[in-house]
Amino acid sequence: MVAACRKVQPNDHVPVWFMRQAGRSLPEYRASRKDIGMLESCMRPDLVAEITMQPVRRYGVDAAILYSDIMLPLKAAGVDLEIVSGRGPVIAHPVRTPGDLEQLRPLDPERLWYITQAVELITSQLGDLPLIGFAGAPFTLASYLVEGGPSRDYAATKALMVSEPSLWEAMCIRLADLSAVFLQAQVAAGATVVQLFDSWAGSLSAEDYRRYAQPYSARVLRAVADTGVPRIHFGVGTSELLVQMGTAGAEVIGVDWRLSLAEASRRVGHRYALQGNLDPALLSAPWPVLAERAREVISSGASAPGHIFNLGHGVPPEANPAVLAMIVELVHTEGPQLRAAARAELAEASTAGGPAASSRSQYT
Ligand code: CP3
Repeated sequence: MVAACRKVQPNDHVPVWFMRQAGRSLPEYRASRKDIGMLESCMRPDLVAEITMQPVRRYGVDAAILYSDIMLPLKAAGVDLEIVSGRGPVIAHPVRTPGDLEQLRPLDPERLWYITQAVELITSQLGDLPLIGFAGAPFTLASYLVEGGPSRDYAATKALMVSEPSLWEAMCIRLADLSAVFLQAQVAAGATVVQLFDSWAGSLSAEDYRRYAQPYSARVLRAVADTGVPRIHFGVGTSELLVQMGTAGAEVIGVDWRLSLAEASRRVGHRYALQGNLDPALLSAPWPVLAERAREVISSGASAPGHIFNLGHGVPPEANPAVLAMIVELVHTEGPQLRAAARAELAEASTAGGPAASSRSQYT
């Protein structure tokens, strides 16, 4: 997994994990969470370790991801918020004026003691398997803070962004610094990879992303640059933003299902490892069809200098865990051959027809 992030992936292994691999799709998760609120569960190191390990035990994935939430550092900093099951984060006092920023105070890393303890517990159980730490990108966090909860069109967020640029900047800098403290705490305690989630960045035009989102994501990514841990940068609906996401600083770009990995890699100049991108909605398709799609993802991912297999977004709550287990098995058993064959074909195309030929490969 770490080798793939660093673009030195051996052909004999395609790593795989799933965004939201811990969560409501697992009966053991539902049992662990019984009668315990989401954010409360994130503050109990024993429970965090248990829930983080559940999908590792069940699926044999190549990485664990810390069970926590992108909103947690805001909660730790004193923002009055809740995570409502089936809905998402809900903020008591949405941000509308400069005075509303008072709730975003700098976060003393000591207040994340339960994260430190949980990460230490998890890494002691993981052996050589990497633990992915994560944080939310400022735009996605801001969308919850301004809307007060989940939104379809982000109208209040975008209106504030373009009409109050100095308030927007002040808010995003505070959010970037909260996410930076969250990431640094996870890495200091032993997380070996990090992922920055900018889940809702795809709602922005490329120009607005460049002005109002990318600089603050870059600020978060810079905060962990000198730790040397590989950084993954992911968003949904970001086909038109991939180049600018790349320049924000991560080594790996996460791609949703809207674009083939070969085309994504072409757009970013084959300079990054890619993560993705099986459509999570297809998890309910009959296995032979789904298996074929998983194979196509592996072949297409061979265009990138490193590929980590994942879904294009999180595991839906109604997903069948048995299907996810079959995907892991397929990626591990068929992945090496599929990747090697696709890479051989790409190499042949580029020697036969010059550099341009490889981008005309059947996998684009
Ligand atoms: O397994 C993992 O991926 C690690 C844990 C994780 C959670 N949230 C646990 C969680 C991670 C990485 C996140 C990140 C997160 N949180 C994001 C970015 C990723 C993405 O999905 O785009 C976002 C946007 C949030 C905010 C948030 N928290 C939402 C939208 C929700 C879902 C609301 C719902 O119930 O549908 C949450 C709650 C949440 N975070 C759950 C989990 C397991 C479900 C809680 C429950 O059991 O009800």
